[in-house]
Amino acid sequence: MISQNTIQQILSRIDIIEIVGSFIKLKKRGTNYLGLCPFHNEKSPSFTVSPSKEIYKCFGCGRSGNSISFLMEHEKYSYVEALRWLANKYNVEIEEKELSPEQKLQQQSADSLYIINNFAQKFFSDYLFNTEEGRDIGLSYLKHRGFREEIIQKFQLGFNPEARDGFATAAIAAQYNLELLQKSGLVVVRDDKPMDNYRGRIIFPIHNQSGKVLGFGARVLKTTDKAPKYINTPENDIYVKSKLLYGSYFARLAIDRADECLLVEGYTDVVSLHQAGIENVVASGGTSLTPDQLRLIKKYTNNLTIIYDGDGAGIKAALRGLDLALEESLNVRLVLIPDKEDPDSYVNKVGAAAFNEFIANNKKDFILFQLETSLKEVGTDTTKKSALVNRVAETISKINKAEDFTKQDDYIKQCAQLLKIDESGLHTLVNKFIREKITKEENRQNRDEIFSNNDQQSGTYTPEDDDAAALLNKDEQHERAIVRSLIEFGTRDWDEEKKVADYFFEHIPIDELDEFIENKNLIPAIRTYHTWYKEGLEPNAKSFLYHEDMELSSLVVGLMDYNYEISPNWKEVFDGKIFTRDELYKEEVFSTLNYLKLKKTKRMIETNQQDLEKPHTAEEQLILLQTHQYLKNIEIELTKQLGTVIFK
Ligand code: CTP
Ligand code: MN
Repeated sequence: MISQNTIQQILSRIDIIEIVGSFIKLKKRGTNYLGLCPFHNEKSPSFTVSPSKEIYKCFGCGRSGNSISFLMEHEKYSYVEALRWLANKYNVEIEEKELSPEQKLQQQSADSLYIINNFAQKFFSDYLFNTEEGRDIGLSYLKHRGFREEIIQKFQLGFNPEARDGFATAAIAAQYNLELLQKSGLVVVRDDKPMDNYRGRIIFPIHNQSGKVLGFGARVLKTTDKAPKYINTPENDIYVKSKLLYGSYFARLAIDRADECLLVEGYTDVVSLHQAGIENVVASGGTSLTPDQLRLIKKYTNNLTIIYDGDGAGIKAALRGLDLALEESLNVRLVLIPDKEDPDSYVNKVGAAAFNEFIANNKKDFILFQLETSLKEVGTDTTKKSALVNRVAETISKINKAEDFTKQDDYIKQCAQLLKIDESGLHTLVNKFIREKITKEENRQNRDEIFSNNDQQSGTYTPEDDDAAALLNKDEQHERAIVRSLIEFGTRDWDEEKKVADYFFEHIPIDELDEFIENKNLIPAIRTYHTWYKEGLEPNAKSFLYHEDMELSSLVVGLMDYNYEISPNWKEVFDGKIFTRDELYKEEVFSTLNYLKLKKTKRMIETNQQDLEKPHTAEEQLILLQTHQYLKNIEIELTKQLGTVIFK
C-alpha cells in the first residue's frame, strides 16, 4: 500500500492541465482550458478543465472528475495504478505503507487463497492427466464432449477424485491450513473430518484479469444425479462473483482486436468457442450482468453481443439490468441459438465458419428484440400496451445521447413503427423521461454545478437549478449544509481553545451520527473527516477530492458547490446584511447544528408522547411527563436560539 505521505506528495504536485494535456489538446479560454472530449465523439470542444478547482467536466456528455479519475477512466488504471503513474511523472519516490493488522490479515487471507487455489488447480490438472481415474473418468468425458487436449490444458481444466478426501489429504499434507481450505470452498468439514467439496467433478478454474485463479466451477459428470450440476466457489476475499467474467483472462486481447465481446452462459460454451478459434468470448454463469461486469467489458469494447440459447431461462436473466448497459453506452446485440442448442453444442455441430456466419447474420438489436418479444406477450390488451410504451420510452431515454445523437432518434422511429404509434408522441414521452432523469441526478449529487456559472465557457447545457433545489427537502438541505460547514470550516477557530470540528463533534458525537443525520449517504463523509481530524490532519474539500472512494469524492464535490442550499436558518436570521459565509461561519455552524439538535429533540418528544399514550402506573406516568417537560424546554431553548424560524 502506498503511504499517505507519498500520496500527499503526489497530490501536491498534481497539475491537472499538464495531466489531461498529455492526452488531449487543450486551449486556454478565460480561466479554464477547453478541448475535445475524449469520452465521447464531438466536433466542437465542450470538455472543460479548471486548473483552480483541479477538476474537469464535459458539458456535452456530463463526465466530470479530478486528475486521478481522469487517468482511471482514460487509461483504465486502478486508483493505485494512477498514483504510480503520477509518482513516476513527478519523480516522487513511492513509500509503501505498513498495513493495519486488519488489512494485513485480509491481505494474508487473500494471498493464501491465491496460493491454495494455485496448488489446487495444479493438483486437479495433474489428477486429470496423470492418474488412471482421472483419465478414465474425467479426461474421457471431456474428450467425448469434443474438447481436445490443448484446449483442456489452456483452460487448466482438472478433475477432483471421487474418494472422500483425495484433495483434502494432499492439501493438508502440504501444510495448508484447514480453515483457509474451507474458506476457499475446496474442502468442507463433515462429521468432524475434512471432505472434498467437488468430489468426482470436472474442475473449471476461474481466472482473474492477470491469470491468477480466483476460484472454481465444478461440474458433475452425470446430470441424472440429484446433485447440483455445478458447485461454485463461495464468495470470499478473492472470489466475488459479481465482479468476474469467466474466460476474461483468455479473451482480453481478442476482444480488443475484434472490438466486440461475445457473452455466453456457460463455462463449456467459452471453452468450445475458443477451441473453434472464436476467442473474444466470456461467460456470466447464467445470471444477469452486474454493473461491475459491464464496466469490465467496457474497458475493452463498446460492443457486446449476447449469445444465448433461444428458449433458455438464461435469456431473461441476461436481459435484466441491461438498461444499465445503455447508460454506459454499450451497443448491445443479441443472437439466439436455434433448435435447443447452446453455443457449445452448436459450434460443435456446424463448425466455426458457419457459427461465425450465423452470429453475423442474426444479430438483433437488444432494444428492438425486447420490444418484439413484449409485443407478442401484450397482444391486444390496451392497458398492457400503454405500459409497454412507457417502458420502451424509458429504455430509449437511457441511451447516452451525447455519445450518439442519431441513435436515440433511430430507435424512436423504429419503435414507433413496431408499436404502431405516433412518432412525435413517443419523442415527447422519451424527453419526459430524460428530463426526469436529469432532475433526479441533480437532486442526488448536483455534480453539474461543479463549475460555477461565471467560469463556464461553453454553456450548451444549463441545469434547471431551482427545480432541483425545490426537490430537496428542508432537512436534507440542512444536513448537507452542516457537512459542508464541517468540511469547509472545521479547522478554523471556534474559540481560543477549540476548533470548529471540536465543537461539532462535541455536539454530534461520532457514535451517535445515526441519530442526527437521516441522509445516510452523508455519514461516511463525516466519519472520514473525523478520522483524518483525529489523526492530526487538517482535512478540507481537497482532501476528499482525491479520495480513493470516488463516490465519496463526488459527494463532497457536490456539497461544496451546492449554491442554493445555504442554510435557511442563518439566511433568515441575518437577512438583509451583506456578510459572506466566510465571515459568518460560526453562525452557520451554530445554527445548522442547532437545527439538527432540534430535529432530534422533536423526534424524542414524539417517541415519549407515544409512550405516554400507553397505559402506565402513576409513577411511570410522572417520569414520562417530566421527560416531556424537560424535552419541551430544550426545544423552546433551541428554537429561541434559532431565531424566528418556524418548524413544522
Ligand atoms: N451454473 C451454475 N450452477 C448450476 C447450473 C449452472 O453455476 N447449478 C452456471 C455455470 O456457470 C454454467 C452456466 O450456469 O456454466 C450455464 O449453465 P448450463 O448451460 O446448464 O451449463 P454448461 O456450462 O453449459 O454445461 P453443459 O454444457 O455441460 O451442460
Ligand atoms: Mn452447455
